[in-house]
Amino acid sequence: MIRSHQAGVLRSADVGTEVVLAGWVARRRDHGGVTFIDLRDASGIVQVVCRDIAQAQALRSEWCVLVRGAVAARTEGNVNPALATGDVEVVASTIEVLSSSDPVPFPIDGADEIDSGVDETLRWRHRYLDLRRTGPAKALRTRAAAVSIMRRVMEAHGFLDIETPYLTRSTPEGARDFLVPVRLQPGHWYALPQSPQLFKQLLMVAGLERYYQIARCFRDEDFRADRTAEFSQLDIEMSFLDEEDIFVLTEELFAALWRELLGIELPTPFARMTYAEAMRRYGSDKPDLRCDLELVDLTELMAGTEFRVFQAEHVGAVVVPGGAAYSRRELDEWQEWAKARGGKGIAWLLIPADGEPKGSITRLEPERLEALPAAAGAKAGDAILFAAGPRRTTLEMLGALRLAVARQQGLLRDDEWRFLWIVDAPMFEPTEDGGWTAVHHPFTAPAVEWQDRFQDDPEHALARAYDVVGNGMELGGGSIRIHRAEMQQRVFDVIGLTREEAQSKFGFLLEAFRYGPPPHGGIAFGLERLTGKLAGTDVIREVMAFPKASSGGDPLTGAPTPITAQQRKEAGIDVAVIEEPLGTKTVSKDA
Ligand code: AMO
Repeated sequence: MIRSHQAGVLRSADVGTEVVLAGWVARRRDHGGVTFIDLRDASGIVQVVCRDIAQAQALRSEWCVLVRGAVAARTEGNVNPALATGDVEVVASTIEVLSSSDPVPFPIDGADEIDSGVDETLRWRHRYLDLRRTGPAKALRTRAAAVSIMRRVMEAHGFLDIETPYLTRSTPEGARDFLVPVRLQPGHWYALPQSPQLFKQLLMVAGLERYYQIARCFRDEDFRADRTAEFSQLDIEMSFLDEEDIFVLTEELFAALWRELLGIELPTPFARMTYAEAMRRYGSDKPDLRCDLELVDLTELMAGTEFRVFQAEHVGAVVVPGGAAYSRRELDEWQEWAKARGGKGIAWLLIPADGEPKGSITRLEPERLEALPAAAGAKAGDAILFAAGPRRTTLEMLGALRLAVARQQGLLRDDEWRFLWIVDAPMFEPTEDGGWTAVHHPFTAPAVEWQDRFQDDPEHALARAYDVVGNGMELGGGSIRIHRAEMQQRVFDVIGLTREEAQSKFGFLLEAFRYGPPPHGGIAFGLERLTGKLAGTDVIREVMAFPKASSGGDPLTGAPTPITAQQRKEAGIDVAVIEEPLGTKTVSKDA
């Protein structure tokens, strides 16, 4: 080894030891002939003292150096309690420059936090420098430690780690696919998997019973803080199970992660809430329970009102404790907020400690107006913010409002961890063209009480699907699958997938299901969401080594790039496939 010790591990017990260290110049300070260097390697930082080493003054930030010297105790008054190695320093005898560095595009040190405010594109463009910083590197370490715990827990339960293909055909998660042209079959394309869903079900047909994988998934979706085009899942499937098996396994896994990485004992089992209750009370299928505010339903109170604003399928409200003090400007800001989210606006009522309530709804019938504060559970000093409209979108708007109010009023308890299961999700949701689509995916089994009749009432049918939610984020989701062909066909019928379409999309799975498929089910956790939470961030790009920018591309490699005419030709991109009675024929579009 070129070095004898890591810089960050030196302590008082090492005083007198001769060491060879290697790392980067984090900082250099010159003090009357003596040069101090903060030497950084992956383990941390130690101070190096250079007396009579002329070359030391030539060193610059981020040069890579080899230091020979001896560990010495720092004199009293020079101890640095902020540094793990702060009791000692290394008195250098020689310094060798391993490589020099250009001036860096952003400061590297003094950054224990993950996001130090440096422009994102610049960080990803120079991610190799960004990761020299303690905070960002720590996020990746947390992810690695979490993955190691996951593997241990999965293996302790007899799960097999099995890889599934990346070059495959479309999977049923419902986002857009990334497509890959195929040189050897011009005009034919692979789809990158949106998840290993179909393969893991095949592995159950294969009788392997317990599968897991840290799998990369590809979805051509718009970026958000918690969503990227390319992400990973801890993906799990098992046979001969019911929901409880998944719940218990997940809770054990999460408890191990939080205990070992954060020293926190999570209370298990996690709470369970139906989808309907979550929407009604929190306006979200991923409620953040760190805040006690709940939505108020005023639909019944407003039934038959003459007041136009409240003539709607749903009328609801959020009570803002202490909100009577809102200024006109603050109330206007809520209007802007609602409009920015595509809503019509927010009606409001302030209930001062003394005097009459005032607000934008004072033309409401007097008896309803009078009943409002009590119906909403508002006290003197509070404000009531209202939204009205179609039920689902209004509940979602109120759910977002609840969180915005909670943040504004400091009602979100940042130091809490609140996990829950969302169960009894709807099986189907309406499509824009008046049909139905599967909410989870079309292989999800109906709730037992719906299994014979979901096709008669798709709107209300419930699925054996579950999501695990932590502090307002969907961390994972899964379901018990359908394993009977007849039931599967009824689901395809509801979502309007003809036999031919089903055959062409999922024929291989349906065929496998003809050979004694076991009852099975599973779950997948968003690895970046989960490990981001553990690393203290909701921005999943922070736990990815080389993330793409929120605008899409990869600022580091410059991908995606245009391709050359030659590549285009080789990939067969311009070849059209023509369906003919006796099979397919490919023709070049140039022809
Ligand atoms: P689902 O589509 O719900 O289920 O995905 C499971 C989990 O993956 C995470 N996730 C994402 N993370 C980052 N960026 C994205 N674009 C993204 N999309 C999803 C979320 C989500 O909860 N095959 C099924 C699982 C199953 O049924 O077993 C599936 O993929 O945390």
